[in-house]
Amino acid sequence: MIEQTLVVIKPDGVQRCLAGRIIQRLEDVGLKIVGMKMVWVNKEFTRQHYKEHLEKHFYPGLEALLTVGPVIAIVIEGVNAIAQVRKMVGSTEPKSAAPGTIRGDFSHVTYEFADKKGVTLKNLIHASDSDKNAKIEIKLWFKKDELHAYKTVHDMHTIE
Ligand code: PPS
Repeated sequence: MIEQTLVVIKPDGVQRCLAGRIIQRLEDVGLKIVGMKMVWVNKEFTRQHYKEHLEKHFYPGLEALLTVGPVIAIVIEGVNAIAQVRKMVGSTEPKSAAPGTIRGDFSHVTYEFADKKGVTLKNLIHASDSDKNAKIEIKLWFKKDELHAYKTVHDMHTIE
């Protein structure tokens, strides 16, 4: 039930200076940061991260978006953290993301607009979508000694 999930604040989120506000939301619900770093990934790394999407029409744009500047990679831990974080992130398409979600509150563009303009859909953040992928992604982004076990004040109220 206690899960770890990978969150990546993509370059558009970093460049819009939204990192603090995004991280704040995750902390506010009592989720715990157990690893965090700023990384400027290259194309090869991006191909590994998005290996399920290499053949999709949007992949070249997605690769360009992820490598255009540094990202902030975070491992978040908590009760059902994978689904919880996905809920807080909101739908992939900003237009469809509900108000109150990270994408819904900080972005609004559509697939149609991005496709017509030939630009990449900027949706601020990535979050692992399943237990299997969370494990694979955390291993890809973090070494074991970059992850930390410690207690937050929330542990007393939500876990112990
Ligand atoms: S799919 O086709 O349903 O498997 O794709 P999806 O799970 O919705 O998205 C996979 C990742 O690709 C990103 N994505 C896009 N990026 C740029 N442009 C377009 N049009 C686009 N469509 C999907 C989407 O945000 C997912 O990346 P992450 O980083 O997980 O959000």
